Amino acid sequence: MMFAPGSHLGILGGGQLARMTALAARRLGYRVSIYDPAGDDAPAAPVCDQVFGAAYDDPAGLERFACSVDVASYEFENIPVAALQTVGRGCPVYPGWAVLEICQHREREKLFLHRHGFPHAAFRVVTDAAGLAAAVAELGTPCVLKTAESGYDGKGQLKIEPGADLSQAWREWSGGEPRRGVVEAWVEFVAELSVICARNGQGQLLPFPVFENVHTHHILDVTLCPARLPPEVQMRARELACAVTEALDVRGLLAVEMFLTRGGEVVVNELAPRPHNSGHLTFDASLTSQFEQHVRAVCDLPLGAPDLLCPVVMVNLLGDLWPEGAAPDWRAVLDEPWAKLHLYGKEEAKPGRKMGHFCVLAPALDTAFEKARTIKARLQSGRSF
Ligand SMILES: Nc1ncnc2c1ncn2[C@@H]1O[C@H](COP(=O)(O)OP(=O)(O)O)[C@@H](O)[C@H]1O
Ligand SMILES: [Mg+2]
Repeated sequence: MMFAPGSHLGILGGGQLARMTALAARRLGYRVSIYDPAGDDAPAAPVCDQVFGAAYDDPAGLERFACSVDVASYEFENIPVAALQTVGRGCPVYPGWAVLEICQHREREKLFLHRHGFPHAAFRVVTDAAGLAAAVAELGTPCVLKTAESGYDGKGQLKIEPGADLSQAWREWSGGEPRRGVVEAWVEFVAELSVICARNGQGQLLPFPVFENVHTHHILDVTLCPARLPPEVQMRARELACAVTEALDVRGLLAVEMFLTRGGEVVVNELAPRPHNSGHLTFDASLTSQFEQHVRAVCDLPLGAPDLLCPVVMVNLLGDLWPEGAAPDWRAVLDEPWAKLHLYGKEEAKPGRKMGHFCVLAPALDTAFEKARTIKARLQSGRSF
């Protein structure tokens, strides 16, 4: 069923992804409501028609939200599946709760990939220090212990180096609480990449071009497009992402994060059923942004062309750039006419917090990258020039 422009779209979660989705939806003529415990303080609140400020475990609040919108989606993984099910009794929710149930839980996600024969790093599920020791013995070091639930931007991850004291590592990681984790073999990757796929209710499936991602301290730092990778690798990555999207029966977006190994293999790292940080550059450099495509897919409109119009580099702006809470001098970005600044309207800057991003476009990717690096250095130097 199609929810034509003019319908009312609801988004669970009111962070920057909801904010940018709402901006794209409004341009198409949709009304937008968000549901976020932070209420009017949520980054998406100022650009929405209505804000529902209640907890994710408040059935009455969720029902009110569901009854006031025509169709709903969500912008982050750590929403309880039960909340989606409650909303689903009042209006359709896409991607469906079964997709979120897999993607929000690293163990279920890994098992899903494994069952469907998609390539992934070797892993073991662990629940105690003895299990960790057995997993490390099998997978070798280095390896990485990741939380099964609620991890993002590298939170809940511990790299285990050769000779590590595993009992102590488990104690530190678990904080003495019962906890489930996934131990992953270390992947010696030559590049990280992502492919965002859109799929609507008719089964129309379109991937965006491959994004090349550079992470610093486990957080996305820079994304480049076109990716500097051989065409056959890019083809493989897009095919793989499309196959995962089909297998999960996604209606909406699915972001597939991948590694390119030294041996030339493309390996799936993790999945996100929503707009993704690596796709932010589509807002400035693509015919259809990931946010518009998300709205089109969820509302079952025909999908727009995901083609890249111009080489582009995106740089994340983390709270670290706000020394003592003061915003940097934005002239560093604004002085470059081919640069685009995006700020998410967050009041408080904390280290590691995503406050905004900027994109630099140029006829050649190298030029865009060089300019982006210069702008970042200017922002970091704190000088206004
Ligand atoms: N098995 C691994 N081998 C090598 N690097 C890894 C591995 N797992 C994660 N990383 C690094 O840490 C980053 C964040 O890990 P990821 O699993 O994507 O978690 P998050 O949910 O925090 O994004 C990855 O993008 C990658 O740079
Ligand atoms: Mg990740």
